[in-house]
Amino acid sequence: MVDEADGRAAAQSDRLASIIEALDQPMVVVTTASGDERAGCLVGFHCQSSIDPGRYVVWLSKANHTGRVGLRASHLGVHFLDRSQHGLAERFGTRTGDDGDKFGGLDLADGPVPLLEDCPNRLLGRRAAALDEGGDHVCVVLEVEEVWSGDDLDPLRLSDVSDLEPGHPAEERPRPATHRAR
Ligand SMILES: Cc1cc2nc3c(=O)[nH]c(=O)nc-3n(C[C@H](O)[C@H](O)[C@H](O)COP(=O)(O)O)c2cc1C
Repeated sequence: MVDEADGRAAAQSDRLASIIEALDQPMVVVTTASGDERAGCLVGFHCQSSIDPGRYVVWLSKANHTGRVGLRASHLGVHFLDRSQHGLAERFGTRTGDDGDKFGGLDLADGPVPLLEDCPNRLLGRRAAALDEGGDHVCVVLEVEEVWSGDDLDPLRLSDVSDLEPGHPAEERPRPATHRAR
């Protein structure tokens, strides 16, 4: 009985994975800061969630340094990566701030969070709400305060970064992520 339920769950998960693969989501780098600590990671889970007022949502992994700093921060930055920026995706998606600062050598604009000058398409949002419904990521709702747009964006997509191994792999997330997921 348990095996049958496990098999069904695995099949559902495979079907969802193939839909997500077909959607080929654009990738962003989310940055944040609290006190002296700054953080940032590559994020595939993100989208606009309200037009008026402007809201943008990112989902941060409970395993990540960025998730921990982001939940104490007033603001987060969302940087829309161009196809030519695989190197930035690698820096922010395969290293962890738990081992050292990732921002060395990058040009940063002033603000409540480090903003990457290399990414002309970006937004700054104030953390308006956070929702932990028991999954392995926390939903962070941003009130959009400022938006910059630069050159035409040819987005770096999930399929462009399939070679990257996350700095904190999925297995590091608590299972279940909280008691509410049981
Ligand atoms: C393709 C890809 C997509 C990712 N999507 C997310 C995501 O949506 N949310 C998230 O918190 N981490 C995501 N990650 C994982 C983090 O970017 C990665 O574990 C990073 O090294 C964490 O750094 P940190 O510990 O300094 O925050 C993704 C990684 C990759 C390679």
